[in-house]
Amino acid sequence: MKIITVKDQVEGGKLAFHLLEEEMAAGAKTLGLATGSTPLTFYQEMLASQLDFSAMTSINLDEYVGLSADNPQSYAYFMYQHLFHAKPFKHSYLPNGLATDLQAEVKHYDDIIAEHPIDFQILGIGRNGHIGFNEPGTPFEMLTHVVDLTENTIQANSRFFDKIEDVPTQAISMGIASIMSSKTIVLMAYGFDKADAISKTVSGPVTEALPASILQKHEDVVLLLDYDAASKL
Ligand code: GLP
Repeated sequence: MKIITVKDQVEGGKLAFHLLEEEMAAGAKTLGLATGSTPLTFYQEMLASQLDFSAMTSINLDEYVGLSADNPQSYAYFMYQHLFHAKPFKHSYLPNGLATDLQAEVKHYDDIIAEHPIDFQILGIGRNGHIGFNEPGTPFEMLTHVVDLTENTIQANSRFFDKIEDVPTQAISMGIASIMSSKTIVLMAYGFDKADAISKTVSGPVTEALPASILQKHEDVVLLLDYDAASKL
């Protein structure tokens, strides 16, 4: 794991964008994208750039079950609002949270990932060490699956909703095995409330109890951390 500390989220976004430029120059075709507040400065750099993504594919990590793409709380809406409206890709994939047959949707998403190997995967991290929506206890070999969100995650994500009852209790998430098959992974974390998860990710045991700890086994991972997120290393 390569660990880089940055002054703040703005610098982290710039650095992540610089890594993306390098990978694109080396031929990257498919980007794995994430939601949450963490990647926002990275998306701002993409928006401000001259780069054209219209020949590329993006695959997002996850989507809430039960929210349509035009629901402002959905991750499809988030991606449109923060990136795709101005920087369209040739194809942008997110799980369909409204699929009537969730198991068929899960299989469909795995087929998409298999057809488009991810060259550059952006990750945030949950306070409990989740990546995507792979909550503690998720088997490392898992592919795309339907997840029951933990209380901790529902609580953390409720800040985006009017009230906690509005937060969906399930999501469809890319699995850890798929994340691990990405060629390059850039995980960003900012703020003191991520410090525990980051310390366990870097130097704790590799355990399904802390999903991000599996990244210790990946050959090309960069962690971009502000001083607070790095404070327990
Ligand atoms: C959600 C997303 C994750 C994200 C996490 C942290 O649970 N599914 O992909 O990493 O939130 O969010 P934030 O970046 O807002 O702290």
